[in-house]
Amino acid sequence: AAVDLQQVHDTLVSVAFEAGRMILAANPSSISTDTKLNAVDIVTETDQAVERMVSTRLRAAFPSFAFVGEETYQAGVTRITDAPTFVVDPIDGTTNFVHSFPNACISLGLVVDRVPAVGVVYNPFQDLLFTGVKGKGAYMQRNASLEDGKGKGEKVRLPLGGANPPPLGDLSSALVSIEWGSQRDGENFELKARTFRKLAASRESGGGMVGGLRSLGSAALNLCACAAGQLDIYWEGGCYAWDVAAGWCILNEAGGMMVSGNPGGWETELDSRVYLAVRGASKGQRELVEEFWKVIGD
Ligand code: IPD
Repeated sequence: AAVDLQQVHDTLVSVAFEAGRMILAANPSSISTDTKLNAVDIVTETDQAVERMVSTRLRAAFPSFAFVGEETYQAGVTRITDAPTFVVDPIDGTTNFVHSFPNACISLGLVVDRVPAVGVVYNPFQDLLFTGVKGKGAYMQRNASLEDGKGKGEKVRLPLGGANPPPLGDLSSALVSIEWGSQRDGENFELKARTFRKLAASRESGGGMVGGLRSLGSAALNLCACAAGQLDIYWEGGCYAWDVAAGWCILNEAGGMMVSGNPGGWETELDSRVYLAVRGASKGQRELVEEFWKVIGD
């Protein structure tokens, strides 16, 4: 049967608000010693508790859908199939969360046939909600829950600034977000370090000298900022499907595009792990992607 995407959206929004209350109530210093890849790949009890709550709610509401979550994912075992699948990161930006740096969110995606179909990204610290439903557009809402008593903000269609977003210029005028992630050795670290260097350095020093480089610490919020038109580009070499599934849908619905972070890859997969996102624009998207790939590939 066809999936009722609007119903999924409504459920995900209410689950996101419940998760937001758990995140705000948590004491971020209550970090567990349970480390993953290495000492900087952290998980807190709150990540685990939020994922348990989310999977319980979603399995009850949509018992036939599959569920993939960051904290229960098993490398080499967990696979995303063509079935409707929730792809969930209970806290994207865990390091920010632990430091009370208010750029963290819950990221709730639904993929159908491995294509992002619904995305809900909620930053409880700012009570800021981003949503996207395939074919129905993307929205941002401030004061999204009524928790702070200010009343709900209006839902604003993305990108901000209207249906005809300004054309993209070249890299020297682009605001680019790029993350270090938690892998800090081997080939993956070399790829990231080389990419950072190429983007930052002047032309004379062998780089592309982008307008500005940021590392904000949440993949999902980077994608939402591209969807809103606040960032021009986001590149990451080494995150996972749960970091991007929800934001990808929101980006697509805001006219943005997701391609491979590796030069030449116009088509990219949900779990390709190396991503390049570009905001919606009236023109210049493909040219900017080509310029970006050329700079990081040369
Ligand atoms: C991380 C954040 C970070 C990105 C990492 C992700 P987590 O997610 O999105 O920005 O650089 O690759 O793993 O671990 O906080 O859910």
